[in-house]
Amino acid sequence: MRTFTRRTFVGSALAGGAALVAPSLAGAARRPAARAAGTPADSRIDVLLDEPIGTIAPEIYGHFVENLGGVVYDGVWVGERSRVPNIDGVRRALVEALRPIRPSVVRWPGGCFADAYDWHDGVGPRDRRPRRTNFWADDANFRDVGIVPQRYDPNQFGTQEFLHFCRLVGAQPYLAVNLRSLPARSFVEWVEFCNSPAGSTTLADLRAAGGDREPYGVRYWGIGNESWGCGGNFTPEEYAAEYRRFATWTVPDYGVGLRFIGAGPSGGDVDWTRRFFAALDGRRDLGRMWGWALHHYSSPPSGGALQFDAPAWYGLLASGDLMESLITRHWQVMGERDRERRVKLVVDEWGAWYEMTTNVDPTHLFGQQSTIRDAVLTGLTLDTFNRHADKVAMANVAQLVNCIHSLFLARGDQFVATPTYHVFAMYAAHQGAQAVRSVVTSPEIHYATAQNETRTLRGLNGSASRRENVLTLTVTNPDLSEPREAEIAVRGGAIRSARATTLTSRDVHDHNTFDAPRTVVPAEAEVAVSASPLAYRFPAASVTKLEFALGG
Ligand code: AHR
Repeated sequence: MRTFTRRTFVGSALAGGAALVAPSLAGAARRPAARAAGTPADSRIDVLLDEPIGTIAPEIYGHFVENLGGVVYDGVWVGERSRVPNIDGVRRALVEALRPIRPSVVRWPGGCFADAYDWHDGVGPRDRRPRRTNFWADDANFRDVGIVPQRYDPNQFGTQEFLHFCRLVGAQPYLAVNLRSLPARSFVEWVEFCNSPAGSTTLADLRAAGGDREPYGVRYWGIGNESWGCGGNFTPEEYAAEYRRFATWTVPDYGVGLRFIGAGPSGGDVDWTRRFFAALDGRRDLGRMWGWALHHYSSPPSGGALQFDAPAWYGLLASGDLMESLITRHWQVMGERDRERRVKLVVDEWGAWYEMTTNVDPTHLFGQQSTIRDAVLTGLTLDTFNRHADKVAMANVAQLVNCIHSLFLARGDQFVATPTYHVFAMYAAHQGAQAVRSVVTSPEIHYATAQNETRTLRGLNGSASRRENVLTLTVTNPDLSEPREAEIAVRGGAIRSARATTLTSRDVHDHNTFDAPRTVVPAEAEVAVSASPLAYRFPAASVTKLEFALGG
């Protein structure tokens, strides 16, 4: 869990202010440019169709809705009697924006909130549900917001409302279980409420009374969250004992094929992974575990979501690019005990996390704006997952709306999609496709930190996938000022036609607002395919999707 205190925010806002924006960035107008004829290439991308990696699980394009700040109340749930257009209480604009990007899976109710939540509070008639103090009520960033649903939870959005939301947007539910403050029995009952056959149990009848006679068939269950921190402050051995108690014998499957997800490490804490797997060793089924959760938040060395200079731009992206080594390091350690590779990685919290200075409403704890910097981070992270399609089975960006690294901002009847949303829309083409290896050669970026130390970040990077005769290649260019001239070769196939979708912005600080919702939106264009390899210019600070029709 990241904590930014109010003191941090005030301090950096005063210290930096407008001066945080380096003169070289302020007002810089940058547009994608067509590659000039004869411009020499500085980069090369080889897509190797004959080197498959694995199927890209649609669940990699998953989301996270925690009962935190403005995510649920004001974000997802407005209530049936709201003046905000809604479908059975769920914000209609959100549903309509989500459907086309195929959200695959949504995690709920937390996060840290999950280990304080009793699911019984959120079922049955809404007017009889208890009000409870939200886990986040006392967060240092959350003072002075009064008695609001974000702080005193009215439990209007419970299991059935969440499952209806999932159904509306076509996503699978992923429920996070309270391991810190409820007994395993409560977990078993939650599974029974969700999955026991119609008419079979008292809890199935309770579900039917709420309008859902048929079971939901919930497959994904997270056994605790951040159990090294807000989820109980356990040691890996203590958590392994708790995990075993919750997951091993107690839970009937109801023919669903339950998939349990263990609360894995924060960032590079391989000790947590190693010791947990060692503690479960000797169990053939590794405690029925299907996924091992990894959390990684990226932060710049200074500055907020909108005020940043070049060191903060590159620092944030370098922090995000650690995802590559986090995946490979934890995967290697998991393999020391899980030789049959039963357990996959589930990166169920990731995103950029800034000091809270740009939330659109004071009740939106951890709310933040989003620029092309966040879009590039989104692209490079999703590309990393695609390249490790054999290891990563699910990922959930934190969080869907009004929070860290959100796809949407909403307040009352106002609603806007962020640049991050547009990257998810562009990358949806990868879902369920076959990831294939690509080799990218591109100049590294050498940048100076605020302390004038030189650091290196890789230049162009991306991922490729194939579905029948369509090849999707997505590429990020993290360079603030240099476009990249690339040659693109497809080994094992020929490009018949190509179409590009590009997300970039005139100024890297541009962002979408309720009043100007289309400041940062993608542009589509046909690409002339006249030579092989194909010559293509990737604009500075951009995310690009190239879709190739293949033949031959
Ligand atoms: O996403 C916000 C919080 O960050 C989650 O509740 C917690 O799991 C993580 O620390």
